[in-house]
Amino acid sequence: MRFITNSQHSVSFPKRRRSLLHFQPLSLSLSDSFMAFLKLYSLYIIFFFFTVALSVSTSESLSSSSLDVELLLGKIKASLQGNAENLLLSSWNLSVPLCQWRGLKWVFSGGSPLSCCDLSSQQWANVSLYKDSSLHLLSLQLPSANLSGSLPRELGEFSMLQSLYLNINSLQGTVPPELGYSSSLSDIDLGDNLFSGALAPSIWNLCDKYYM
Ligand SMILES: *[C@@H]1O[C@H](CO)[C@@H](O)[C@H](O)[C@H]1NC(C)=O
Ligand SMILES: *[C@@H]1O[C@H](CO)[C@@H](O)[C@H](O)[C@H]1NC(C)=O
Ligand SMILES: *[C@@H]1O[C@H](CO)[C@@H](O)[C@H](O)[C@H]1NC(C)=O
Repeated sequence: MRFITNSQHSVSFPKRRRSLLHFQPLSLSLSDSFMAFLKLYSLYIIFFFFTVALSVSTSESLSSSSLDVELLLGKIKASLQGNAENLLLSSWNLSVPLCQWRGLKWVFSGGSPLSCCDLSSQQWANVSLYKDSSLHLLSLQLPSANLSGSLPRELGEFSMLQSLYLNINSLQGTVPPELGYSSSLSDIDLGDNLFSGALAPSIWNLCDKYYM
């Protein structure tokens, strides 16, 4: 299986008291409603802090690293490496600067590529670069990398991934149909692997793009 195409390119009113109770001392009913107010007020405070805590924690988890980095470490790495520890994939580690992760190229949201070529550049050794939420995966190229796992469907979730070269490996299982739903993929080579099963029709979407 081999696809090669060109790469150009988410207060209430108190209930009316029964007549018997009309003769309660005024202070009691005052303190009653004061207590009710206090309860309401403390509920409101609790709710307020809950909301604030929630929004702080979500914005923190979203800005603490690039979403593509989370996807790579959370789903892609384990699936591609299968049961055996892989030398190249072990470089995908938060204690290794992003530029030194093997087989990957990155682009900023605006479209400018992350330059990792210059070993003396600040980027090359920057261990907090992975936190940059504007970084997106542009290409994943690990041919002949001794990969023995399978293709995870999350490969279709990278918003800017253009090329995927995983040829000449021992990848097994099926080619996930989700790859065909990717809006950015244009360059794929999955040849010389151990895939089984029929190719999902969605994969041909990628070819349509080539003709468009
Ligand atoms: C990342 O690298 C560090 C240091 O080499 C190592 O201790 C750690 O186990 C690695 N983490 C993963 C998930 O491989
Ligand atoms: C490393 O990368 C982070 C995230 O992009 C950036 O804020 C920081 O300034 C960089 N540090 C250096 C030394 O370039
Ligand atoms: C390739 O992976 C296998 C396990 O799947 C391992 O035994 C072998 O040493 C690896 N070869 C290289 C060159 O890393």
